[in-house]
Amino acid sequence: MTKDELETLLVQGSVDTEEARGALTAPIFQTVTFKQREIGVEIPFDYSRAANPTRSILERQMALLEEGCGGFAFASGMAAITAVFFLFDEGGEILIPLDLYGGTYRLLDGYFKKFGITWRIVDTTDAASLEKEFTPATKAILLETPTNPLLRVSDIAEVSRVARERGALVIADNTFLSPYFQRPLALGADIVIHSATKYLGGHNDVLAGIVVIKDEELAERFLEIQKSTGGVLGPLDSYLLIRGIKTLGLRMERETENATAIAEWLSGHSGVDRVYYPGLKSDPGYDISKKQSTGAGGLLSFELGAAHSVKEFFAALKIITPAESLGAVESLACHPATMSHASIPPEMRAQMGISDRLVRLAIGIEGQNSLIADLERAFSASAL
Ligand SMILES: Cc1ncc(COP(=O)(O)O)c(C=O)c1O
Repeated sequence: MTKDELETLLVQGSVDTEEARGALTAPIFQTVTFKQREIGVEIPFDYSRAANPTRSILERQMALLEEGCGGFAFASGMAAITAVFFLFDEGGEILIPLDLYGGTYRLLDGYFKKFGITWRIVDTTDAASLEKEFTPATKAILLETPTNPLLRVSDIAEVSRVARERGALVIADNTFLSPYFQRPLALGADIVIHSATKYLGGHNDVLAGIVVIKDEELAERFLEIQKSTGGVLGPLDSYLLIRGIKTLGLRMERETENATAIAEWLSGHSGVDRVYYPGLKSDPGYDISKKQSTGAGGLLSFELGAAHSVKEFFAALKIITPAESLGAVESLACHPATMSHASIPPEMRAQMGISDRLVRLAIGIEGQNSLIADLERAFSASAL
């Protein structure tokens, strides 16, 4: 898909889908059920857990955007990830990255382990060393690229090649870059998941999850899982997501421009020990990021130097809000150790490289100078 086609699909992919009346924007079908004019005759929509017209518009658009066969919308990113893990049977193993969203770790370790589905951490950024990690029990490898919160980049095409040879599926959490900057299925992955709460929605007003599947047969199997587990996205939230997607490209361009400037500024700051941002030439993920993505995104992390109080730094921010989440127009600051990754035990966090001095910034669309001034204020106020 060319950039031009992608930009057009973001806006036009959900319009002109309501044939009966020609509504330009997607109508909200706030209904649970549909009249069956003749019993025993199949109709496209019979019950909204199975399918709802507003949700279907979104699911169709997401399948097109991610270049897959089937799109599926859920009530949250975690509901989407849960449904994906239901594809696997007892005895199966899932390989996971060195660092990943804390909730995904909690779901695997706290719940799927009980059903005999195990997980093992591997270095997904080192595709060459991955070959030896696959065992006959390995059913899938989960990629977050870039990862949350250390922005580590994995080579999707290389990992997919290795996984395919070993008969394992590649699941790519594409939350951080969205299909606007990165399309994992076109690079060889089998399943894409999103916390659509983030960039796809983009306005901090809707919690949602998306799954897109490349293979038709697997998509058919997954449709049954979506219907059976039932954590589907409601019609109004589907509409909000459709509306958010129209400006995805504009938001991501602006957020990346802001994030790049801030990452460069932080790199030269005496209060910062290290910056993690794949858009910086000095970042270990820069080359792969350039190869497989068309932008580095609005997320960056940094280690606050020992001469600053972490608590005071967050307290002094006035524009950037200390809060969970990311990917929306408002800039947010996260302290992974006590927020997004608090569900991971401290010793495991240390193993993953997530320190107590790590700050994650989700850069929004505000003025760049105002954001930098806000950070500078926090550096000054937190100096010990
Ligand atoms: C990379 C990633 N995947 C999945 C999730 C879970 O999504 P949700 O909060 O929409 O359930 C998050 C949430 O922060 C995330 O950052």
